[in-house]
Amino acid sequence: MSIMIIREFRLDDLNRVYEIEKITIPNPYDMDILRKLFDFGAGFLVAQIKDTVVGYIIFWIVEEDRGHVISLAVDPDYKRQKVGSRLINTAIATFMKFNIFNITLEVNAKNKDALNFYKSIGFKSNKKVSNYYEDGSDAYKMSFELFNNTDI
Ligand SMILES: CC(C)(COP(=O)(O)OP(=O)(O)OC[C@H]1O[C@@H](n2cnc3c(N)ncnc32)[C@H](O)[C@@H]1OP(=O)(O)O)[C@@H](O)C(=O)NCCC(=O)NCCS
Repeated sequence: MSIMIIREFRLDDLNRVYEIEKITIPNPYDMDILRKLFDFGAGFLVAQIKDTVVGYIIFWIVEEDRGHVISLAVDPDYKRQKVGSRLINTAIATFMKFNIFNITLEVNAKNKDALNFYKSIGFKSNKKVSNYYEDGSDAYKMSFELFNNTDI
């Protein structure tokens, strides 16, 4: 099996990340939004196997102490190979370095794959938000809590 690395996004990954975003996400972000998220300093990691970027995650900090996952997607040809797990676990580890122990995200209520995926990581689904997406679909808010052990 080929080695997978998780590394920081670089601008020359932008076309490939946008390609994955377009084929996997029903309401994809435009390329210039992805670029702006990077320019604004959001966490942005890619998974690479050999010379190919096979997935990415974008995340940032909101309300000072809460982490938020903006986007996560894996090329369908590389699904169920733990690419998504490696990406999100690296993002969680990054948040922990910043003493962020509460991470949230929204998932389309119809996206059973992603709901199962996040549950497998340890996220719990909270309330359903009606009409969350532009096309009127509902979302589940999901959250992941880690205990803050730093002062024990
Ligand atoms: C959701 C997504 C990121 C999962 O990525 P992945 O690399 O295939 O996931 P992993 O291989 O790390 O899966 C880890 C576990 O999650 C669960 N899981 C992942 N995909 C699943 C699916 N399609 N059906 C059921 N369970 C699933 C399983 O428990 C899996 O463990 P297992 O393979 O040992 O059974 C990927 O399917 C994807 O990119 N989907 C389209 C974009 C998207 O929905 N993004 C999330 C919303 S922003």
